[in-house]
Amino acid sequence: MYSIVAEKPGDISVLQKKSIDFSEPKSNEVLIKNRAIGVNFIDIYFRAGLYPWPVDTDLVLGSEGAGEVEAVGPDVKNFKIGDRVAYAQPNNAYSTHRIISEDLVVSIPDGISYDQAAASILKGLTVKYLLCDSFNLQSDHEVLFHAAAGGVGLIAGQWIKEIGAKSIGTAGNFEKCMLAKQRGFDEVINYSEKNFLEEVLEITNNKGLDVVYDSVGKDTMFNSFKCLKKHGMLVSFGQSSGPYKDIQMTDLAFGSFYLTRPTLFHFYANRNWLENSSQKLFKMIVKDKIKLDKMTKYDLDNVADAHTDMENRKTSGSIILKI
Ligand SMILES: NC(=O)c1ccc[n+]([C@@H]2O[C@H](COP(=O)([O-])OP(=O)(O)OC[C@H]3O[C@@H](n4cnc5c(N)ncnc54)[C@H](OP(=O)(O)O)[C@@H]3O)[C@@H](O)[C@H]2O)c1
Repeated sequence: MYSIVAEKPGDISVLQKKSIDFSEPKSNEVLIKNRAIGVNFIDIYFRAGLYPWPVDTDLVLGSEGAGEVEAVGPDVKNFKIGDRVAYAQPNNAYSTHRIISEDLVVSIPDGISYDQAAASILKGLTVKYLLCDSFNLQSDHEVLFHAAAGGVGLIAGQWIKEIGAKSIGTAGNFEKCMLAKQRGFDEVINYSEKNFLEEVLEITNNKGLDVVYDSVGKDTMFNSFKCLKKHGMLVSFGQSSGPYKDIQMTDLAFGSFYLTRPTLFHFYANRNWLENSSQKLFKMIVKDKIKLDKMTKYDLDNVADAHTDMENRKTSGSIILKI
């Protein structure tokens, strides 16, 4: 039994392997033997210290995983030893095992592998709330989605296609643009080479968009606002290029815009939402409406390499760690 921990925020050198003894699960907790662990940009925000260090001891990073229930606490009602389960919850996932409340895990249905569950439970549920809850995307909407070839982005392209809305994605190189197009985006702009605002205005005949999903932050937010039509919605849900700090309330007045900055875990905490949304996500994967075939795999011990590649924009699709 071991975990990858960081003693303090920093670069990848803070990531260390440490033996950990997992005690018996208490009350409504389950002990999960992880079979696959998802890597997400939020892991980098915690490791680098962008998000507040949530403990006063070593932090086990990682927020997404799938595995088998190995032991249950005395009050657990819905899971038993041997059940296949998945979870998305900040930290404590980069580990051979995890203890977690049963309220925060979902069953993995037949037809979904551990790898698929670990590649999609956090990212797919994020796409679900982005498209259905933060903004109610309909087939007559036009949308811009940044980092369209990333872990969240590739799932989003396929889900938007299923809804039938017209989508424009952005991605940082030619190969990523091709991949995003294969995974549902109608148009993809290489925003490393082209000004995405000018491209969006050309594609939409200067009309602008109903909604922009921006997880890049510092480098894109200013122009993301300018892509909106009047009364459009900007959904800011990340900051892979760094936080955007220049927003003024009066900026919204240029188009009577709406702005929201949601976080998956506020939706996830609602058990009804979690059950319904994860069932919807897993059904789409089983029906092949969401393909997860662009996964990149690393050994848990080599998670630092996954962080380096992600920070250097070398990855596309979901990343998982194998134990
Ligand atoms: N709020 C929430 O509930 C929530 C939940 C999940 C994820 N997120 C956010 O969604 C975003 C995507 O997450 P993910 O885990 O799927 O990551 P990802 O999209 O696989 O990786 C991030 C991508 O951001 C793009 N990027 C642009 N500028 C960058 C820069 N300066 N440094 C690094 N990357 C840059 C890169 O794509 P290109 O090379 O194509 O530009 C990179 O591949 C992240 O911002 C994450 O924090 C938010």
